[in-house]
Amino acid sequence: MVKICCIGAGYVGGPTMAVIALKCPEIEVVVVDIAVPRINAWNSDQLPIYEPGLDDVVKQCRGKNLFFSTDVEKHVSEADIVFVSVNTPTKTQGLGAGKAADLTYWESAARMIADVSKSDKIVVEKSTVPVKTAEAIERILTHNRKGINFNILSNPEFLAEGTAIADLFNPDRVLIGGRETPEGQKAIQALKAVYAHWVPEDRILCTNLWSAELSKLAANAFLAQRISSVNAMSALCEATGADVSQVSHSIGTDSRIGPKFLNASVGFGGSCFQKDILNLVYICECNGLPEVANYWKQVIKVNDYQKTRFVNRVVSSMFNTVSGKKIAILGFAFKKDTGDTRETPAIDVCKGLLGDKAKLSIYDPQVTEEQIMRDLSMKKFDWDHPAHLQPSSPTTSNKQQQVSVVFDAYEAIKDAHGICVLTEWDEFKALDYQKVYENMQKPAFIFDGRNVVDAKKLREIGFIVYSIGKPLDSWLKDMPAVA
Ligand code: NAD
Ligand code: UDX
Repeated sequence: MVKICCIGAGYVGGPTMAVIALKCPEIEVVVVDIAVPRINAWNSDQLPIYEPGLDDVVKQCRGKNLFFSTDVEKHVSEADIVFVSVNTPTKTQGLGAGKAADLTYWESAARMIADVSKSDKIVVEKSTVPVKTAEAIERILTHNRKGINFNILSNPEFLAEGTAIADLFNPDRVLIGGRETPEGQKAIQALKAVYAHWVPEDRILCTNLWSAELSKLAANAFLAQRISSVNAMSALCEATGADVSQVSHSIGTDSRIGPKFLNASVGFGGSCFQKDILNLVYICECNGLPEVANYWKQVIKVNDYQKTRFVNRVVSSMFNTVSGKKIAILGFAFKKDTGDTRETPAIDVCKGLLGDKAKLSIYDPQVTEEQIMRDLSMKKFDWDHPAHLQPSSPTTSNKQQQVSVVFDAYEAIKDAHGICVLTEWDEFKALDYQKVYENMQKPAFIFDGRNVVDAKKLREIGFIVYSIGKPLDSWLKDMPAVA
């Protein structure tokens, strides 16, 4: 029986390994983590992450060929294939702070693998890492343990949260990079055989190590670039009377452009796009390519601009001040169908509104009050450094006075002056907006950061509606220009 161990039971490690276990019943899969509460949750009925379809998959194989454990060393030493799916956050201090990937967790995992291994192993980079990381990891592995063969592969993950299970069941491609030596090729074939249980062979791409590592950063940079491009267009649409949805549709029907990832929004969020682009920028700078670095940096700058523009629009529309006004925040997760808030645009929007002394009433169907309060008190980039490895940041009393987290959209909206829709949860489309309107202060504003509400219908009810990249209501046109 082939034994797989995955280090890191997070958003990637958990679902990916659960699907491998489901599709490969003859393989034993153990997911290990140093975070005891996370492993306990994986072994309970309340999984640590919300992901449609995940419960089902875990229930089908947990205890049969899928196990979750904190006994990291034991399971690593027994495994034939070790996936490393630990977090690779942006460095917060020292050389490359604010850009470079922090490989502390990866390095400590590699050292541990080297220390506990008694047999040959294939070590798989599942985490997103800077190009050439495999070389450094190889050095750690081979330096610490002579006589044991480690073959390192890069197998980046392309799942998106909210659709992780569907993405894993039916991936566009699986990418495996390895050394171009006979041993490297043999290791590629061994990992390919795992995925071949359910992924058609022509969708399993094999490359050299550096191409696989770089392809992951490149894919995220290209995806994020599309969003920043359409968001840049959304600002121009608002200035000219064009409608960004019509523009997206028109350009997306060109088969060379394609229709996906052209939805204008309040900005992209999530644990990957910003982090991976910053990492790419840093790699370009280190390789003496400042023009290339600046090109990708712009994707982040436009994203920051979009969030600021949204906050400014809210404030300027509401008579240039939101001080003391109740604003309902609908949605805090970085996208629908996940409870993940890492780098969610909601954090920057809420902080911007709090800076103007607004009172926020926040509702998200999947995010806890504790998480929201922590996010609003945390410094940039601190979020991806595991809570168990650093002191928890206390919420400030000011924030506690200005922010309330509620468990129902109608409760959030009651007596509010304005609503900001920041996540595209389906339930926000289905609210009884007549009832919402009656329960709000007048004039009643709605700022739709995801273009999910029926603006025409809402205007008929009496709302003043702002939709990203859409022609502006006369009210909004008359307000001071937004920077
Ligand atoms: P995560 O924070 O959810 O999970 C990482 C886990 O690794 C944590 O539970 C942490 O406790 C554990 N860990 C850290 N150091 C460890 C060690 N030495 N030993 C054992 N466990 C350790 O992160 P994630 O979202 O699953 O992302 C993991 C990697 O995958 C990152 O490199 C990320 O960029 C990449 N990635 C993420 C996504 C996504 O959608 N989240 C998609 C593709 C790739
Ligand atoms: C992304 C990549 O899609 C995935 O391949 C990679 O493995 C991890 O990073 P994820 O961050 O989970 O996945 O979600 P994604 O669907 O890419 O959305 C990222 C952000 O972009 C979200 O905030 C989303 O709302 C936003 N977005 C997406 C837009 O604003 N407009 C779009 O058209 C698409």
